[in-house]
Amino acid sequence: MSSKLLVEIAPSILSANFGKLNDEINEIKDKFKYLHIDVMDGHFVPNLSIGVPIVKSLRKEYPDLMLDTHLMITNPAEFIEPFINAGSDIITFHREVTINPNLLIERIKKYGKKAGISINPDTDVKLLDCSFESADLILIMSVYPGFGGQKFIYSALKKIEYLKEQKIKNNYQYLIQVDGGVNVDTAPLLIKAGAEILVAGSAVFEAHDKRQAIDSLLNTKIF
Ligand code: DX5
Ligand code: ZN
Repeated sequence: MSSKLLVEIAPSILSANFGKLNDEINEIKDKFKYLHIDVMDGHFVPNLSIGVPIVKSLRKEYPDLMLDTHLMITNPAEFIEPFINAGSDIITFHREVTINPNLLIERIKKYGKKAGISINPDTDVKLLDCSFESADLILIMSVYPGFGGQKFIYSALKKIEYLKEQKIKNNYQYLIQVDGGVNVDTAPLLIKAGAEILVAGSAVFEAHDKRQAIDSLLNTKIF
């Protein structure tokens, strides 16, 4: 059966060529709604990447895209306003670095923005239970965050199934997003498990034909 589910691909610019970022985005921008932006601080993850000024530039350049900002940083509370002022539409922070995630979620939502919460591969999915009512988005990491092009960690599937089951049972409104190792082999498994937004970095930006790469991820067969 061909997937007719409402699944979105969120290209992650971490794998784009930053020397010609505009060209790379323009080439595919009619094919997606969420542009995934990875923010890394060299503490929460062993890498540095994008910060507030890039989000600000992307906002100016792409007024209609949803800027999906994934904060892989130790101190998300200090960066909510800077990223919202820069133009982020979604702010996702990590559960591992928050004592009271719902306070952050409420703060993000107060600005009329979408609040996401994420967990790493080794984090128990049950730690998200307390945010099911309030989160707009839940992001399951299917690689250890920090780098693009890593191998998919299959234990993410069970977490996604759990989120889907809870969502249906309780009519929760969160979107289920997955990030890391998404490709034509893993996409069908993820969609079947219940993922609604597939973040894809290398599978899109390192493809010879980026448009075709998005189509292939979307037109995946699920069994
Ligand atoms: C990893 C980032 C991802 C990354 C995914 O820490 O959060 O968004 O770009 O890259 P791929 O799709 O290549 O695994
Ligand atoms: Zn990400």
